[in-house]
Amino acid sequence: MPVATVATRPFEGQKPGTSGLRKKVKTFQQPHYLENFVQSIFDILEGFEGKTLVLGGDGRFHNREAIQTILKMAAANGFGRVLVGQGGILSTPAASCVIRKHAAFGGIILSASHNPGGPDEDFGIKYNATNGGPAPEKLTEAIFARSREITAYRIAEAGPVDLDALGTRALDGMAVEVIDPVADYAELMETLFDFDAIRDLFAGSFRMCFDGMHAVTGPYAHAILEGRLGAPAGTVINGTPLPDFGGGHPDPNLVHAHDLVAAVDAPDGPDFGAASDGDGDRNMVIGKTFFVTPSDSLAVIAANAALAPGYAGALAGIARSMPTSQAPDRVAKALEIPCYETPTGWKFFGNLLDAGRATLCGEESFGTGSAHVREKDGLWAVLFWLNILAKRRQSVAEIVQDHWRTFGRNYYSRHDYEGVDSDAADGVMVHLRGRLSGLSGTRLGRYEVAFADDFAYTDPVDGSITRNQGVRIGFTDGSRIVYRLSGTGTEGATLRVYVERFEPDPDRHDQPTQQALADLITIANDTAEIAARTGRDKPTVIT
Ligand code: G1P
Ligand code: ZN
Repeated sequence: MPVATVATRPFEGQKPGTSGLRKKVKTFQQPHYLENFVQSIFDILEGFEGKTLVLGGDGRFHNREAIQTILKMAAANGFGRVLVGQGGILSTPAASCVIRKHAAFGGIILSASHNPGGPDEDFGIKYNATNGGPAPEKLTEAIFARSREITAYRIAEAGPVDLDALGTRALDGMAVEVIDPVADYAELMETLFDFDAIRDLFAGSFRMCFDGMHAVTGPYAHAILEGRLGAPAGTVINGTPLPDFGGGHPDPNLVHAHDLVAAVDAPDGPDFGAASDGDGDRNMVIGKTFFVTPSDSLAVIAANAALAPGYAGALAGIARSMPTSQAPDRVAKALEIPCYETPTGWKFFGNLLDAGRATLCGEESFGTGSAHVREKDGLWAVLFWLNILAKRRQSVAEIVQDHWRTFGRNYYSRHDYEGVDSDAADGVMVHLRGRLSGLSGTRLGRYEVAFADDFAYTDPVDGSITRNQGVRIGFTDGSRIVYRLSGTGTEGATLRVYVERFEPDPDRHDQPTQQALADLITIANDTAEIAARTGRDKPTVIT
């Protein structure tokens, strides 16, 4: 079959430091746009001739079209085989799993995560390396530089490949193997968790609701929860991936997963609720009228890890992103294992996981995961909770409250100011950085400042240093205020303020979060002069 070399013009691909190239579908539909990015990746990679590429996406609008293009380009560029999820489906953690299990050269994942999908919404693409994790910074920098110089791409002149029937077919000398997107992932989950115990749990009166949000995890949840684990049909809601996610916003939080919250909080509703995002890497878990913060979730999972067969040996360590609450640190201390504090973004966990220094990791932004793959993993976290619930036979609330009694409670909340004028947001950070040296040892309200800095991270594995990752103000009682600007927002700037207060006294563990944090929130706003500098008197979103 002929291969065409198509002339093109340089463009701006994925900016280094971002998690993939995310743009409107309309942008990706422009001639040569996707092709330019894919060729920029292939131009930079070395030694993939005859090797295997993994390919799949979250099923959003434009997924199938993009896959056909990438298949033809992989063939023209010399890959030997592509493993593609049936129907073009692969969740982000499943793609990571398939890359690792089949020792693939790497993978291309099509997703814009939790951003809405549809003809007028977002599309995205990213490259994952041999370890199954997002391309390291050096690679994304090289691909970005290449995208600005590219003048041609190679593509096989072939018709579309059938993505729906399992099996292998040939495309210009390359094998296209359409695989069950769930099988490898489900098999891995079975090695990590006590499926027998969870089956027993579902065989009794225990009920759960999983909200697939019409995104990629529906097929995984149907197959694993209702299939292998015997949960009754109807346990999974919104379980069919739709190109526009049913018009919803596939981000698992109390606002967007409203169907789930309503179902679980109903008088005769299920005992446990969970949801995942567009591409399946985020998770939210809830009990009856009880929200588990992602920071607490990581801490509870770590404290109960011995209950899951895949984690019954000692944990090597825990890693959390800097703004995540310090609840996991307390567990690490009790377990006498290290706790690493990394900058925001999953890629910083990769080195720690690869080096065997951390077993569990997580972020406050609904991301939890472990060394089993190199992405955060929504359904994995849900299965971990099911494993814990099956062994402890207590409610979600009882388990978390018991955790607080043992370790103390880290009240925690994130306040987001979205769509703020960029100069004003930068002004807040400049103002804060200017105040840092004067803050140490002073009092802010009833809190004494223990340290104030602009977070810098030295990677313990390769020694690389990442600076300016957010302003931290730590207090002597363990409370903390953190400020940083979002790296993923699309309009203007998003200022994130993270507030945390440690409360050791069990008699004071049942306050509403915003009330428990009220004085610290005032201090956070005053110290940063948020109202005066941004014109906002309250945040857009509180989690
Ligand atoms: C946000 C989250 C961060 C997460 C990232 C990608 O980034 O805060 O934890 O890794 O999305 O899912 P931010 O917009 O804060 O830069
Ligand atoms: Zn995601």
